[in-house]
Amino acid sequence: MTEPTGNDPGDRGRIAAIVPAAGRGERLGPGVAKALRTLGGVPILVHAVRALAAARSVDLVVVAAPEESVDDVRVMLADLSTEAEIVIVAGGETRQDSVARALLALPQDVEVVLVHDAARPLVPPDVVDRVASSVVAGSDAVIPVLPIVDTVKEVDDEGIVVRTLDRSVLQAVQTPQGFRRSALQLAHARSDGEDATDDAGLVERMAIPVHVVAGHEEAFKITRPMDLVLAEAILVRRRAGGVVG
Ligand code: C5P
Repeated sequence: MTEPTGNDPGDRGRIAAIVPAAGRGERLGPGVAKALRTLGGVPILVHAVRALAAARSVDLVVVAAPEESVDDVRVMLADLSTEAEIVIVAGGETRQDSVARALLALPQDVEVVLVHDAARPLVPPDVVDRVASSVVAGSDAVIPVLPIVDTVKEVDDEGIVVRTLDRSVLQAVQTPQGFRRSALQLAHARSDGEDATDDAGLVERMAIPVHVVAGHEEAFKITRPMDLVLAEAILVRRRAGGVVG
């Protein structure tokens, strides 16, 4: 008789995707919270939740919504036709707080957690599954990355270039980032209020290896007004190709 490996779909716990969606998105300009702005007539958050729920690996999605919009978000997500369970909690002051609040809402049987920015609404479901599979296969932490296309320089306070970084060893990091639940919870518990711009950053501080898999251009983060123009164009192309978006 073979011992269970923990890697077979049959003997794993559930996989949850946490979606921090409580940011204001000030770099996009004044208006409602970024995740509630529309893209092709549909809120950015709805695109993001649909993409996660469309991934074969995701059983459950936990959204950390802007505190004042929890009820609106509940209505927004009520009609999504998906088999994935959807849970909504109020987000916090920082991205890290929002993720921490969503972690508290996870059911006991969740063993793998993906954390995905609502601000990356067009992530292809294949990227989500690639990250999840890598965690299921045994990695404690996995991030999707893309090579850097620009030359990157370190610049001092006076605006003088200090040095040019070696681009060949640099990668741009996307989400979803995937974690064994225990590793992510420990990393958050040990963060001591120190902020990190991503969850893998907290895990790295505990000297847990963070593995990389291939990201995707369309998983870019909507931050500035021009990103909305690009996202609309991608949606038009997808819809013309018969992809629902
Ligand atoms: O601001 P930035 O684009 O880096 O935010 C990344 C993600 O974190 C966004 O999806 C945003 O909604 C979320 N966030 C959050 N709670 C905050 C700040 C940001 O859920 N307080």
